[in-house]
Amino acid sequence: MREIRLAIAGVGNCASALLQGIEYYRTHDSLETAGLLHEEVGGYTVAHIKPVAAFDVDKRKVGRPLEEAVFALPNCTRVFQPELPKYGVTVEMGPRLDGVAEHMAEFPADRSFRPADLPAVDIVRVLKETHADVLVCYLPVGSQQAVEHYAQACLDAGVAMVNCIPVFIASDAEWAEKFRRRGLPIVGDDIKSQVGATILHRVLARLIADRGGSVEHTYQLNTGGNTDFLNMIDRTRLRSKKLSKTDAVQSQLDQPLDGVNIHVGPSDYVAWQNDQKVCFLRLEWKGFGDTPMHLELRFAGEDSPNSGGMAIDAIRSAKLALDCGIAGPIEPVAAFTMKHPPKQMRDSDARSALEQWIARATVLAAETPKPHHRNGNGVIRASVVS
Ligand SMILES: NC(=O)c1ccc[n+]([C@@H]2O[C@H](COP(=O)([O-])OP(=O)(O)OC[C@H]3O[C@@H](n4cnc5c(N)ncnc54)[C@H](O)[C@@H]3O)[C@@H](O)[C@H]2O)c1
Repeated sequence: MREIRLAIAGVGNCASALLQGIEYYRTHDSLETAGLLHEEVGGYTVAHIKPVAAFDVDKRKVGRPLEEAVFALPNCTRVFQPELPKYGVTVEMGPRLDGVAEHMAEFPADRSFRPADLPAVDIVRVLKETHADVLVCYLPVGSQQAVEHYAQACLDAGVAMVNCIPVFIASDAEWAEKFRRRGLPIVGDDIKSQVGATILHRVLARLIADRGGSVEHTYQLNTGGNTDFLNMIDRTRLRSKKLSKTDAVQSQLDQPLDGVNIHVGPSDYVAWQNDQKVCFLRLEWKGFGDTPMHLELRFAGEDSPNSGGMAIDAIRSAKLALDCGIAGPIEPVAAFTMKHPPKQMRDSDARSALEQWIARATVLAAETPKPHHRNGNGVIRASVVS
């Protein structure tokens, strides 16, 4: 039977929204699939995604069945699908490394991480034993060593990776080459929400430039009350997040702004907001006759479900790439679903490139002999559709 065997690193709010979404769309017919961009990607529906392994470090999650762990504290995202199936997956202890910021201990337990005092499992062994196809990485911002550990485990176990966090793997030349050489696809980095702060900021900046305006200053300030925002109050963990979010906007301008004229970043932690993110965005530009204009926007949305639809398409695309032996970063998929892809595109171009890639890869997968590619040991075809 066709399936996508999914491993999850980090059973936080995004993992919760993803699993709830998979079950929600699996149990609703196609007339009710609002919120989902593709009913199918290369013949894979949402129902083909099957969680087979999960890793975390929090004592309220490790050792518990996955369908319970996604609802355990400190997760606080909206519950839109309370009934989840019994996956037969127990959350395993991952290597903690730099995953848990020190300041977490100063906040109440129901709002922050509480690491378990347990030895880490061997991630490579678990990935191999569970025959995982794709690992989705949902670790906290600033987990450079931990993300690299999971990326290396994917390479060693022959598993494709979808990297939703701003630690640069797909967009780092050395890591990208490692995946290419190993014959494994990777989609990353830093998931872009369906309709969130980044895409709004990009599209508005581009609109002004396309109408002949000249953007002079801009900011994007974000607040939220989940552990992602709590983690990010430690500014030392933010370097790559700021880079990722700023590049996402700069890449849409004809002339990138001087650093002093652009400020994009997570800005504060407001506990009672929970998983509600609020974005305050301002753009200032010169119009006809050098006339100053400005725009202020306030956007609010539930953060984690907002990225679920993108993750579902990135995961299915990674499996489709595995099926036809496409290796290394999948640029069109990343340009659409990620903030910091190896190659930035305009968003309308990224949408067309994504659809063309899916269509070509679907044909290629149908022509590719099976079995193939399980654990990276099958026939590897060059990146004909990159
Ligand atoms: N819309 C979005 O929500 C969105 C958008 C872009 C990027 N992201 C990124 O996705 C990531 C996940 O977001 P989230 O809201 O689920 O975060 P979260 O804080 O809810 O979850 C992170 C999980 O990782 C676990 N963890 C910490 N160290 C670990 C380790 N070494 N191994 C395994 N697990 C570990 C934590 O215990 C927690 O369960 C964050 O980096 C976030 O910035 C989210």
